[in-house]
This record gives sequence, C-alpha cells and structure tokens, in this order.
Amino acid sequence: MKASEIRRSFLDFFKSKGHTIVPSASVAPLDDPTLLFTNAGMNQFKNIFIGLEEPKNRRVADTQKCIRVSGKHNDLEDVGFDTFHHTFFEMLGNWSFGDYYKKEAIEFAWELLTEVWKLPKERLFVTVFRTDDEAAGLWIELTDIAPERVMRFDEKDNFWEMGATGPCGPCSEIHFDTGDLTSQAQVFDDPVEGVNGENARFIELWNLVFIKYNREKNGALTPLKEKHVDTGMGFERVVAVIQNKNSNYDTDIFTPLIDAIARLSGIAYSENGMAHRVIADHVRALTFSIADGAIPSNEGRGYVMRRLLRRAARFGRNLGLQEPFIYKLTSILVETMGDVFPEIVERAQYISQVIKSEEESFNHTLDRGLDVFAKIISKLEESASTEISGEDAFRLYDTFGFPLDLTELMAKEKNLKVDVAGFDKAMEQQRERARRAGKFAIAITQDPEEWDALSAGHHSHFIGYESLAIDTEIRRIRQEKDMVYLTLSETPFYAESGGQTGDRGIIEGLGFQIDVMDTQKMGSHIVHIGRLAGEFPRKAKVKASVDVARRLSTARNHTTTHLLHKALRDTLGRHVSQAGSLVEPDRLRFDVTHFQKIEPEQLEEIEGKVNEQIQKNLPV
Ligand code: SER
Repeated sequence: MKASEIRRSFLDFFKSKGHTIVPSASVAPLDDPTLLFTNAGMNQFKNIFIGLEEPKNRRVADTQKCIRVSGKHNDLEDVGFDTFHHTFFEMLGNWSFGDYYKKEAIEFAWELLTEVWKLPKERLFVTVFRTDDEAAGLWIELTDIAPERVMRFDEKDNFWEMGATGPCGPCSEIHFDTGDLTSQAQVFDDPVEGVNGENARFIELWNLVFIKYNREKNGALTPLKEKHVDTGMGFERVVAVIQNKNSNYDTDIFTPLIDAIARLSGIAYSENGMAHRVIADHVRALTFSIADGAIPSNEGRGYVMRRLLRRAARFGRNLGLQEPFIYKLTSILVETMGDVFPEIVERAQYISQVIKSEEESFNHTLDRGLDVFAKIISKLEESASTEISGEDAFRLYDTFGFPLDLTELMAKEKNLKVDVAGFDKAMEQQRERARRAGKFAIAITQDPEEWDALSAGHHSHFIGYESLAIDTEIRRIRQEKDMVYLTLSETPFYAESGGQTGDRGIIEGLGFQIDVMDTQKMGSHIVHIGRLAGEFPRKAKVKASVDVARRLSTARNHTTTHLLHKALRDTLGRHVSQAGSLVEPDRLRFDVTHFQKIEPEQLEEIEGKVNEQIQKNLPV
C-alpha cells in the first residue's frame, strides 16, 4: 500500500466505526501560549477534555500535523541519527469525548492493525500503566495477544501528559518488533526485554491514552467529569512497517525528497544518509509551519524554525550545496502532500520565498562560521581538550548565527562537548550589558495577588487605546520603601512591552496623589509604579491620567520603528529583521540583523526614506 492509501484506510476504518473525520488543526497554534507547536493530535481538543467546550461529535478521527522540537516532547536530538524520529510528523488519531473508553479503543486498534492491515501478531507487544489492571485484562480478554506480551510500565512510559499542565491519563502503547527486518536489530534472549528499551528494534507505533485527569498548575491531578480516549499513531512509522522498510526514510513519504536531495547534490543517499535525513525532515517542518502562519525569527516558535533551517543549511554544506537549495524542495511536498493539506498548495510560493530568504541570510555567515569552528576544533586538538568553551559557542552564535544546538551537533560529530553553562553565562552577560544600556528597571518582589485589596473584581483591563484619563478603582496596592505599586480595575496606562516603554502619569484620590513613573506587566497584572504624596490610599476610587504628551511622543517613535524597519529592508535587503527595539518618548533604538557594517551612504539613504514618510504626514 502507498502511504496515501494507508492514511486513507485509517480514516475510512474509523469512519466505519461511527467517527467523524475532521481536518488537522494548525501546526503553529496562535491561541495557546503553553505550546510553541502542536505536538499531539489531542491539542485541538484540549478544551473538550477539560470540560470547557462541548464536542460537536463524540467520536472523531484525523491526521494531525505535529512538530516535536521543544518542551516535554522533543525529538530534535534524534533526528538524522536514527531512522524513525522526526521533528515534523503526522499523527493519526481517533477520539472519544465521553463516549467509548478502554474496551472499544483496544478493540478498534487491534482490529485495524491485525485484520485490516494484517500486521503479524507475533511482532506486536502492548504496554499498560503499572496499576491499570482493567486495560491489561481487556487486552487479554478481547484480543488474541499472548498474555506475557502485555507488559506494565510506570509513569515515564505509560502515563501520558500533554505538557506541564493539561489533560492526561494512563496509556496503553502498541509496539512493533522490527526483528530481522533491520540490520540494527539487537538480539534479546526474551524479546519482551527490548520493549521501551534504548534500541532500534522495538518501536512504539500507537498510543492509546485514557484521559481522565487534568494536571493543574500546582501539579495536582484533578479528575475530569467524563472519561475520554485520545489515541495517536505515528504515521511515518506505520507506513514503514506496512511497506516492510527498515527506515521511515525509505518509505514513499520520504523517497521523493531524498531523491531530490541526491539529485541536487550529486551525492547518493547511501553515501551519506544523515544529511539527507536531516534536510528531508527539516524541510517538512519548515514548509508546514510557514504554511500555518509561523515565520523564522529570533524568538520562540520563530527561533525554533530558524534553528531547523540553519541545521539543514549546514548539512547541505556537508553535501557540497553552497547555494540556497532547501526552498527548491518545497515543491515536492506540494506535489506529494498537497491533496491532503491544501494550505501548502495555496501558499506554495510564499513558503519557498520565506525559506529562500532565510537561507540567503544565513549563507552570508555560514562559511565564515564553519572556518571559525574548524579553527576552534584544531586548537582543542592541540590542547587535547574535549570541550568547546562557552565563549567560543557564544561567538559562533552571536557573530555567525549558529544556534547552540547546531554547534552541539557539530561538536557531537567530532566526539566533543560544548560548555552549555558557559554559553548561558556569556548570553546572560550580554543581556545584562543590553539591560544596563537600556532602561532603569524597578525590582518588584511580590505577587500582586498578595497585596492589600482595596476593592474586588476584574483587574488590569487596558483601555488606553480609547482614553488616556478615566475614573477607575484601585484593586491592590503595596508600599515598598518609598515606592508604591498598584493595580487598577480599568487602566489607561500602557505597560512596557515589545520594547515600548511603560506610561507615566498621575493617579489621584481622596487625600493622595501618586506620580506614576513606570508601568510594568506582572503576569496578568498591569502594575503602576510611582511615588506617593499624601496619605496611604484607603479608598479605591481614583482618577488615572496618562502623561499624554509623553505617550504621544512614544507612539510616534513606535511608528517610526516600523518606518525604519521598512527602510532598512528596502535598502539592505529582505533578510534584515528586527532583533529588538527600545521605544521611548525622546528616542528609539532599533536592533537589526545584518551581516556587515552598514555603510555611511546606506545610513543616509535609510534616514532619507524614513524622513520622506514622516513628511507625508499620513494618517496613522
Ligand atoms: N496524546 C497521545 C500522544 O501524543 C496520543 O495521541 O502520544
């Protein structure tokens, strides 16, 4: 069966069992701050599990685009080294929202694997959570699996959690013995020993999670009102098993990419392998995340993408690929996966442009960085040391754009380590320098939740785009030395963020006046920081007025950062991106990534372009 037929047969099977087939959610969720990328099929159903949302259907199934590169589920370090981990993969899943539970989940899984796909039963093994007698019993009662193949494991393997918080529960996994299919196969006296071990012979195919708890912020497990099923099967792995391949990269999911990489580089897969695998893997993650609205940058999700792209570019160098090439591979994905994921067809041109421009920008420093890396290595060899210093790793990062994990990966290839603590220290020192050069920070030591409450109700509702002076109420307040800190119900004060300075102004009430000198965010609170004149406030009612002239000047400077950004890109090239900024009433600073010193004539040109726009006096 072709990969596309296997995907289809999974969905058809669950359709025949009363499931509604739903589309994959975005791989770059914009509305869940706890997740950089969708890392499991159940992410989009999180609110249904915890009872915040009603399901439209009680049984659904899909194939979900997932990326596992950070947080609790991170497979990045394995990609390329082995043949069955990926950053981007599809997770086939079926769900029951308060409908069926363990019995049907187990029956469905066994039927699909052994009757529809006809996987040899003698190669299948299952695991259950150590105390889950019910699941263990069901496997033995409902299927013809040999009882000794139902094994128990503890939390690490058989209690699934989405992340630090969220729905979770005991799970039951189905593992496959690749046995003599693979030359890497390890021999075990008793094959049961190999399951969940560090070996390439037994691979996990499918995870059936019996969701019944929510993990709270404080670590507690709260039982959910209803019991649910959340299953996830690695599509690329099951395709390899059904197609009888030793490696996911030998299936028809990957061979078109691998062949193209071999064609572009003139180096056959059999001659290198790892580079082909890394590139084929990373271009998938990049293509799908860009299609879903993410973009390489210096922060968060964007930085993960940048790391992937730079790793792929460096592996391209190992294959002698000097010019941008990753973007050329995206059309293969459009051809092979566009029917299932139309978003990559719709945005095909944009995706390849974004990748190309990122490749171009990294190419500028990659070769010089590789030279510097080679020098670092030869120095280490002379001194018989096995560790790249934190400063060297930081220099590669800061000057040549090598993400730490790329340096680590290159070090690993030479059997060397990187002093990560030293790297972090160098990074912290640089941040400290930037902080010192920036603003005077006010240390707030306490959680606003614990301050004196003058009134109760919602707090920190920002209305400062509509009005700059309002009647409002103090919610919580605290005095520390000669400063007061307070939160309001509604506030017109803008808290420092995105480089824009916090507002100043006046908050006045009966018998007192607070000269607000700064406004900062603390979690969900907007904290006004200032000096108190008069009595310590006892009544909540106040008038809060922002220093209007200062806010407007700040706003003008904020607009100017956008003009400057555009002028920089028009003058220096599209690779230029914002690395940070500071926006104050009387000045602004804009940090940019560019690989050379900006020449005086270019500065003049940029300045001219910005002034030209300002003089147009456009309404904004
Ligand atoms: N949530 C489980 C997993 O990701 C099953 O879908 O493994």
